Amino acid sequence: MKGRILKCLRETDDYVSGQQLCQELKVSRTAVWKVMNQLKEEGYMIEAVKNRGYRLVRTPDLVTADELNSILKTSWAGKTVIYEEKLVSTNQTAKVLAEQGAGHGTLVVAERQTAGKGRRGREWHSPKGSGIWMSILLRPDIRPDKASMLTLVAAMAVYDAISSRIQGCSIKWPNDIIIDGRKVCGILTEMSSEPDHIHYVVIGIGINVNTEDFPEDIAGVAASMHTASGQYFKRSEMITDVLQTFEIYYDRFMETSDLSELMEEYNKRLINYGQRVYIEERGRKYDGIAEGIDREGCLLVRRDDGMVVQVISGEVSVRGVLGYV
Ligand code: BTN
Repeated sequence: MKGRILKCLRETDDYVSGQQLCQELKVSRTAVWKVMNQLKEEGYMIEAVKNRGYRLVRTPDLVTADELNSILKTSWAGKTVIYEEKLVSTNQTAKVLAEQGAGHGTLVVAERQTAGKGRRGREWHSPKGSGIWMSILLRPDIRPDKASMLTLVAAMAVYDAISSRIQGCSIKWPNDIIIDGRKVCGILTEMSSEPDHIHYVVIGIGINVNTEDFPEDIAGVAASMHTASGQYFKRSEMITDVLQTFEIYYDRFMETSDLSELMEEYNKRLINYGQRVYIEERGRKYDGIAEGIDREGCLLVRRDDGMVVQVISGEVSVRGVLGYV
């Protein structure tokens, strides 16, 4: 009920009468009053005026299920939101929920993670109150070898949400979002499948939004939207923007089960495009000029001898542009 009351308050700039809320939600005035008090305790500033009702004056920077439910306008992404103040890893929880039958689009969000997982077994710094740590559960009807492309689809959605707020971000192939050569978002995709069938895919997204400083070991390679712009951002609005855009890109991806509909737009967001890149792939090292991705999400690299190599995975560095590999 809290989420629905918040939604009603959000939908009007004027006062919403207690009676109107009671009628719409079919609850008593006392119940409405109790919820208003809970919301105030959580940091929502609500003005109550006799004979006029309630008005939402200011909202806190929360990523709770009630907050998200009150602003989400998606058709399937985040229709079920699971929020916990503390989780070991949202990916881990999403996988457990998937095993228990949770549906396509379920979103798991935490205020902090105690052991957030990064790629290649690294830890993902996930402190309280400053970032977005979330996982989206998907059940796509595609071949398992196609699933890794969903990471690029998610990167495009995150890029759009960040770049509509601040300037200067890009995608570093395949799925890091960077600003001034530092990483502001990482994506970790995990899957459970059989040779020809996907049980589920979990896309874990970590965005440094309002982080003011980073631990020494990552300070040189990490950035946040705040360190890059000096501004603070409402994380719930970021999440809803990412999910709304992700839905659109996901549907376009599913039309062909590859990136043919999206690769042109992806390549425009790619920092590596037209740059000399250094590839280290399964022990092999070479360099060349990146020519963007193909429909399978591979990076095309034209070597100096003219040969174009299709890079499937591996470490890519761009000399002089990025502060990290
Ligand atoms: C990377 O190393 O670039 C990937 C980082 C992914 C971090 C996110 S935070 C939310 C989700 N839960 C996790 O444990 N990891 C991902």
